[in-house]
Amino acid sequence: MNASSIPPDNAQTPPGVAHPKAIRSFVKRAGRTTTGQAKAIETLGPQFVLPYRKAALDAPATFGRPAPLVLEIGFGMGEATAHIARVRPDDNFLCCEVHEPGVGALLKRIGEQGLTNIRILQHDAVEVLDHMLPESSLDGVHIFFPDPWHKSRHHKRRLIQPPLVARLASRLRPGGYLHCATDWQPYAEQMLQVLGAEPLLHNTATDYAPKPDYRPLTKFENRGLRLGHGVWDLVFRRA
Ligand SMILES: C[S@@+](CC[C@H](N)C(=O)[O-])C[C@H]1O[C@@H](n2cnc3c(N)ncnc32)[C@H](O)[C@@H]1O
Repeated sequence: MNASSIPPDNAQTPPGVAHPKAIRSFVKRAGRTTTGQAKAIETLGPQFVLPYRKAALDAPATFGRPAPLVLEIGFGMGEATAHIARVRPDDNFLCCEVHEPGVGALLKRIGEQGLTNIRILQHDAVEVLDHMLPESSLDGVHIFFPDPWHKSRHHKRRLIQPPLVARLASRLRPGGYLHCATDWQPYAEQMLQVLGAEPLLHNTATDYAPKPDYRPLTKFENRGLRLGHGVWDLVFRRA
């Protein structure tokens, strides 16, 4: 494992220099954690939720087996996440979400479906990427329906922007893939432009990709499709 991209634990801002204010891709939403979600956090959290640390993740030790590692950013309530982990039992899934009810909801699904190949980090995925995942450590990245941040003054919060895509590409091993999906056409166009401009990545399709079989149509997506909304998948690979 190449840990050269992991900054030392004691990395500090020089004296007198204010911490740059990070522009985050999320806001902490209010939202009630249900009794069932809270119970799942209490009973299954210790086994499936990892602490955030400024140190490289030892994935084989964490999952109890060596297997291809896929990072998911922003799993929401975990409906697609659990489905994909079930249909791809030979892969390990490291899943980031900041919203507590979502963490509880995914843990509930893990318990109900007896899944063993998911670990959760309730933390900003950008920091996880920077501090826990060395270069060439990932076989895949899933970013499904990231917040579109519709207003132009909020576009800076969008996840798919050149600096983050460059970091994601560097964490993929050669041959690893980045799969994004969105139902907001202007964001799909931004994704196509930004991913297409990243030198380490190449598009597996001419532009948008057919939906890979492993990604399910979630309740949210089905509702959108019924209303006549489009969905765009993008699948790029590291050369
Ligand atoms: C619009 S929701 C989509 C959820 C899910 N992927 C789906 O398809 O239903 C986007 C989610 O990404 C999460 N998110 C946004 N930025 C994140 C980040 N930097 N780290 C972890 N989660 C993030 C938000 O909390 C939110 O739950």
